Amino acid sequence: MNPDPDIKIEVDEGVYEPSEDTYLLLESVCVAKGERVLEVGTGSGIIALNCAKAGARVVASDISEEAVANAKSNSMKNGIGLDVRRSDLFGGLEGRFDAIIFNPPYLASDVGPEDARLSGGTSGSELSIRFLDEVGGVLNPGGRVYLLTSSLSSRDVIARAKELYKVECVGSKDLFFERLEVHLLTDKD
Ligand SMILES: C[S@@+](CC[C@H](N)C(=O)[O-])C[C@H]1O[C@@H](n2cnc3c(N)ncnc32)[C@H](O)[C@@H]1O
Repeated sequence: MNPDPDIKIEVDEGVYEPSEDTYLLLESVCVAKGERVLEVGTGSGIIALNCAKAGARVVASDISEEAVANAKSNSMKNGIGLDVRRSDLFGGLEGRFDAIIFNPPYLASDVGPEDARLSGGTSGSELSIRFLDEVGGVLNPGGRVYLLTSSLSSRDVIARAKELYKVECVGSKDLFFERLEVHLLTDKD
């Protein structure tokens, strides 16, 4: 979907600033009115708010306290209802979802201090692989997942996704030092 120009997003200190990956994922996602949608790692809430404005019933989660507060505040300021939760991936979330969206941190954490906005684990892929291993537990039958990857750490992630799901690339963008892709995961036939 195209970003709704009427949605105004403020980004608090310590929260991920919407970037190329955010907009590529947003443009690659399709949600229908009334669908139950989960955005994991919502940051400022920009993707979740666009889905909610399109008529989906959206839960937005993040492990970061600052992100949860920021997404709640953007929801209030835009007058768009969003159920925002603090959660490590799916921990404590109730029910199942028709569509689950994740722009994960995907940089390797072997250099410098770990930052939940950016670090996907030692090799950059660990969090995405944990997401793939757990997402089936909260997905409705016939549901779908939109997962963003970067060529910096995507090899193991895509391999794991293909073991578990039918995988289709529905969006991509070449940047100076990496290729971003959005993968649509659905049940294998
Ligand atoms: C790359 S940012 C994406 C933010 C936003 N969705 C966007 O596209 O602009 C990754 C987000 O995932 C969150 N995050 C990191 N580890 C997480 C975890 N284990 N569970 C839930 N969220 C997590 C970070 O706090 C951060 O807000």
